[in-house]
Amino acid sequence: MRRPAKLNILITGASSGMGEACARALAPLGHSLVLGARSADKLKKLQKELSKKASGKIVAKTVDVQSTASVKAFTAFGLKSLGSLNVVLACAGLARGLEPIETITDDELEEMVRTNVEGLVKTLRATLPHLKKSGWGYVMAIGSTAGHAVYEGGGTYCATKHGVKALMQTLRLELCGHNIRVTSLDPGMVETNFSVVRFKDKSRAQKVYQGMTPLTGQDIATCVQWLLTLPEHVNIDEMIIKPLDQASHTGAKVHRRK
Ligand SMILES: NC(=O)c1ccc[n+]([C@@H]2O[C@H](COP(=O)([O-])OP(=O)(O)OC[C@H]3O[C@@H](n4cnc5c(N)ncnc54)[C@H](OP(=O)(O)O)[C@@H]3O)[C@@H](O)[C@H]2O)c1
Repeated sequence: MRRPAKLNILITGASSGMGEACARALAPLGHSLVLGARSADKLKKLQKELSKKASGKIVAKTVDVQSTASVKAFTAFGLKSLGSLNVVLACAGLARGLEPIETITDDELEEMVRTNVEGLVKTLRATLPHLKKSGWGYVMAIGSTAGHAVYEGGGTYCATKHGVKALMQTLRLELCGHNIRVTSLDPGMVETNFSVVRFKDKSRAQKVYQGMTPLTGQDIATCVQWLLTLPEHVNIDEMIIKPLDQASHTGAKVHRRK
């Protein structure tokens, strides 16, 4: 089957950052979207706003990717609303703190592993049968440059993003022969809510991007749009996207103007 002109796309992490930017970019192109995250108010607002401009259907439902039942209900809602699913765009994820391995708390450890690794598996497990059924599929997950290198205080976060890389590589093997593309988008520094969530402190978060020009969610959305236009037989396995000012994967070498 060839790529349908209009796709049915399920997005986790759609309430903020890269997921939200992708929704904003994809809705005006006529694709239909299922938006998911935990923040009901933000989702509802985005769904209403995008529905006004979109020719496709835009629906939203809260989902906690840590929960199998929640992911199942979200996927069932998406299917019922749109009839089929072609694309899964897994953007839900987070980092917590910068604690060394010796002192990281159970809360931080478990939240990162349960969201970034277990949440991705649960999302894939629920949606893959429907991608297969649709006849034309694409799985995109947001990994990170933290899946390619490590830094002090980032042990668990980096482990989860190395985990995302392993999951996507495995998926490519398991789906070989099906008409489903698999790409890990691995950004460096993107100014979203990510650092605010990580540090629970806005001014500390702002310092991360001080004096340099970070990527925006829109930059990642541009990459997603491009991936969706490639010829049928092409698969981009991994896409490492960094700001020009960021030379190293860990952010150890960043050009700052002040
Ligand atoms: N920003 C960066 O510099 C950067 C770089 C490389 C990779 N990444 C990765 O990019 C992905 C997107 O992050 P972002 O930068 O766009 O950050 P963001 O603005 O904080 O967005 C994260 C999204 O994930 C959702 N989310 C978190 N936990 C969830 C859960 N349990 N269930 C469902 N949704 C959940 C959040 O929504 P709710 O809170 O409403 O649930 C939000 O929509 C993450 O995987 C992150 O690790 C970020």
